[in-house]
Amino acid sequence: MLRRPRRNRSSAAIRGMIRETHLTTDHLIYPFFIVDGKNISEEIHSLPGNFRWSLDRLLPEMEACVKLGLKTFILFPGVAEQLKNKTGTYGYAKNNFYLKAATEIKKRFPQICLISDVAMDPYSSDGHDGLVAEGKILNDETLPILAKMSVAQAAAGFDLLGPSDMMDGRIGWLREALDEEGFTETGIMAYTAKYASAFYGPFRDALDSAPKDEAGIPKDKKTYQMDPANKKEALIEAELDLTEGADFLMVKPALHYLDVIHLLKENFELPIAAYHVSGECAMLTAACQNGWLEFDKAMPEALLSIHRAGADAIITYFAKDYAELVRG
Ligand code: PBG
Repeated sequence: MLRRPRRNRSSAAIRGMIRETHLTTDHLIYPFFIVDGKNISEEIHSLPGNFRWSLDRLLPEMEACVKLGLKTFILFPGVAEQLKNKTGTYGYAKNNFYLKAATEIKKRFPQICLISDVAMDPYSSDGHDGLVAEGKILNDETLPILAKMSVAQAAAGFDLLGPSDMMDGRIGWLREALDEEGFTETGIMAYTAKYASAFYGPFRDALDSAPKDEAGIPKDKKTYQMDPANKKEALIEAELDLTEGADFLMVKPALHYLDVIHLLKENFELPIAAYHVSGECAMLTAACQNGWLEFDKAMPEALLSIHRAGADAIITYFAKDYAELVRG
């Protein structure tokens, strides 16, 4: 045998020398769920190790994460039911706790990159990402609401906005609204290929944001999120987001869509983000809690796979665990 690939695996030194993928805390984005109030840190039962935080409890937690080397965070609001309505007005209300929290966080940690969520579902009494009328989710009529939300988020100090509703014309519309208000430096991380996935369950538990089971309200998000069977459609979405002015393209979920991550990485020059979603993290955690997998080995392998597939940045509920693990 002339060729023996095993020679290059014979020691840790050789393996390290030829390792093709390196994942550091620079690549990770840590999601946090924030609620109004004080002294709250409520664990999410379907996403162990993750909490609904009030700002006073979140700040010390973020400080610990920053000390571990994490630099980018994405924030999601858990909104009280009585503040939700059909048009999601709380999303840009003056006294909105999520916006105020962002300002506080950026004051305390000016060096971090803070990402928002731009969608109606946390604020919608229908539990949808867009306006609902006559059993339909309206595309264009939702745009002015998202524009107000985006401008309010940029003014609050978010560095990157994350329009996550997978409807049409978002990036161009929001880019223009931001620029008109002078927020030319606020970036947009486009949820380019977000699939109508069954793996968002724990997230919807965390925010109580599932589509409502009532007459006249569509039960799922299949008319706006992508069909899990489709790949070419992701290229169409990416082309649109690129031309409309996105700064990042995102694929979501991540582990079950590594082919899509790879496809976008091969075809586009923009940085690619992947969202390792709540259900994907929860299933690994559950297997580890059962003693069926070893967390310290399975978790980094999962994250490495997403990076190897082509994701420059990974949103993952394991960001802090990974930071602790590599720190030793
Ligand atoms: C909705 C939104 C969802 C997630 C992020 N933003 C849920 C949904 O589309 O219903 C899911 C993230 C996760 O599961 O971790 N704007």
